[in-house]
Amino acid sequence: MINIGIIGIGFVASLHIAAYKKMSDVKIKAICDNDIEKLKVLEKDIPDVTIYTDIESIIKDANIDVIVICTPSFLHYECIKLCIKYKKNIFCEKPLTLSLKESEEIIDEVNKNNLNMMVGHVLRFWPEYIIIKDYIDNNRLGQIKGVYGSRLCQMPSWNIWNTDPKYSGGALYDLHIHDIDFINYVFGKPRDVVARGCHNEKYAWNNVSSMLTYDNFCANIEGSNQMSSGYPFTMTMHIVGTDASIEYIFKAGANLEDINSSKRELLFYINDNPVQKLDVEYFDAYENEFSYYIDCLQNSKKMEMVSLESVRDTMEIIDSIEKSLNTFRVLRTL
Ligand SMILES: NC(=O)c1ccc[n+]([C@@H]2O[C@H](COP(=O)([O-])OP(=O)(O)OC[C@H]3O[C@@H](n4cnc5c(N)ncnc54)[C@H](O)[C@@H]3O)[C@@H](O)[C@H]2O)c1
Repeated sequence: MINIGIIGIGFVASLHIAAYKKMSDVKIKAICDNDIEKLKVLEKDIPDVTIYTDIESIIKDANIDVIVICTPSFLHYECIKLCIKYKKNIFCEKPLTLSLKESEEIIDEVNKNNLNMMVGHVLRFWPEYIIIKDYIDNNRLGQIKGVYGSRLCQMPSWNIWNTDPKYSGGALYDLHIHDIDFINYVFGKPRDVVARGCHNEKYAWNNVSSMLTYDNFCANIEGSNQMSSGYPFTMTMHIVGTDASIEYIFKAGANLEDINSSKRELLFYINDNPVQKLDVEYFDAYENEFSYYIDCLQNSKKMEMVSLESVRDTMEIIDSIEKSLNTFRVLRTL
């Protein structure tokens, strides 16, 4: 049995909690939030759970094996530093931190202390993205000619910290990072990066278009949390090869919390053939992600699906995109 403690019991923690409740080898032992009212409501739902309002106290708790960090992004660094101090294994929501420098420092310390840390880059565990990667790895598309991805939504309505780049890093670190991480996972680091976008009055890059150049193709990725009210949470990924292309289109309700009413379609286009709608076995990506982490912990397996090296590379690409946005320059990444 793995005992976990969750810090920050907001939107994403509710997805985690739903997943943990389905897992027989995981127990939610403690929860922490600085909003006592939220804690009191949730306490009734989780048997024998201890509640904390202070981050250091939950991390110190000797009954906990893994700390799950679901706080606003600016607190990830501080939480992980405390986990290192108290030698706790870590599952941290994305982004790892809000800078490449902090991420590198943390990865280094986690490795030196032999702790197990995984970052919640959930697209690596998402049914349709798994199939897309499998089609590319097995050369079902031929030579890649182009990649087009997007992630478009309204500003999250359930918090205010997202509007300030000091706390969220803007849509660049909060939203765009999902697709950038997936491209890095599938194709590795690009040769260079150029990005254009628009920011709010606090300098949060909330509309971003990035172009990642590889040897034979470019990946064009768009991210925005500035869609008009009523616009559904939308994600797309279209990969075009010399023989075939694969396209994923997902539209939820007002935001990702409406995932159950989403429309999702994965299409496979082979040259000179009728389009195929691929059968997808739907499962909860968050449960899949955390089960993977627990399996690696329990069986001392290397976390190859989300290695810390690749998390670092994703942070480096995001850092280059940010520099390109700020300077209008093309940044070399190799
Ligand atoms: N993987 C995904 O699909 C996904 C989706 C959404 C959010 N996220 C990430 O999850 C994290 C949380 O996002 P969210 O949308 O759930 O935010 P949220 O605002 O809904 O929840 C954050 C919670 O942290 C609590 N909190 C704030 N300061 C605290 C402190 N000092 N001590 C203890 N608790 C504190 C808040 O009260 C709140 O309950 C972010 O890093 C975000 O990028 C990931």
